Amino acid sequence: MSLAYVDGRIVPIEQASVSIEDRGMQFADGVYEVVRAYRGRLFRLEPHLVRMRQGLGELEIPEPEVAGGLSALLEGLWARSGEEQGLLYVQVTRGQGARAHVPPAGLRPTLIVTCRAVGPHPEQRYREGVKAITHGDVRWEWCHLKTTALVANVMLRTRAQRAGAYECLLHREGMVTEATAANAFAVVDGVLRTAPCSNQILAGVTRAAVLELAQELNLPHAERSFSQVEAARAEELFVTGTHTEIMPVVDLDGRVVGDGRPGPVTVRLLEAYRGLVQAEVGGI
Ligand SMILES: Cc1ncc(COP(=O)(O)O)c(C=O)c1O
Repeated sequence: MSLAYVDGRIVPIEQASVSIEDRGMQFADGVYEVVRAYRGRLFRLEPHLVRMRQGLGELEIPEPEVAGGLSALLEGLWARSGEEQGLLYVQVTRGQGARAHVPPAGLRPTLIVTCRAVGPHPEQRYREGVKAITHGDVRWEWCHLKTTALVANVMLRTRAQRAGAYECLLHREGMVTEATAANAFAVVDGVLRTAPCSNQILAGVTRAAVLELAQELNLPHAERSFSQVEAARAEELFVTGTHTEIMPVVDLDGRVVGDGRPGPVTVRLLEAYRGLVQAEVGGI
């Protein structure tokens, strides 16, 4: 059963609400995380919370006070939902107050959580790969913060979907940063590459897991950006994210990537990723 939590109250999602004066609503003044559940358990909750706390720290938003701590609350909420597979969404905003750019003193952060059953992507997408388009990275300079200010991501992912594509790869000055809701990897001249962590990308939890696996599997890899030109001639291309997992991209802007099928590095990493999930949560 899906459920929502708003500042201490658990309600059905349709009945959950926050004030129109919440700064999340007015200014996207807050951060969020999406955590995947497999087999009734949250996968890699801690790194999501570490990233959220870093974001709150940089934005000078105090962490909401929760009896027993945030991890226990989120795990408890997911257990209460009774769902096996799905997505837990957690958002913290600076709080509620009369609209003013400079926050009034004494705000109490708003904490909202939803737990929903969401199935995996169709297996066919992983087997056959998906299309992606490219676009200039028109977002701001604080992309390492997972704020709810996502209108550029919304517009570009919608454009991708209209073009029959799964994702839109973003580029700045000719270099691929990431995608609208995923990190981007390419195998170029036999080396697996992804942009290094900086203010231009979100340090994805899945990205970190893929780098761990590349190390374990002894795959040549580097945290080094690849260019648009390299993406176009890459042997393999894929995007990573909590719900996306490791999604092979076999068509970029209408041109075939590699031989048009998920390549061997992508396939090995996806298998290893599923093994990791299985090992950590006890099954998919
Ligand atoms: C812009 C962006 N990059 C990367 C990711 C992947 O992050 P994660 O693997 O932690 O889900 C996301 C996830 O939503 C995202 O929105």
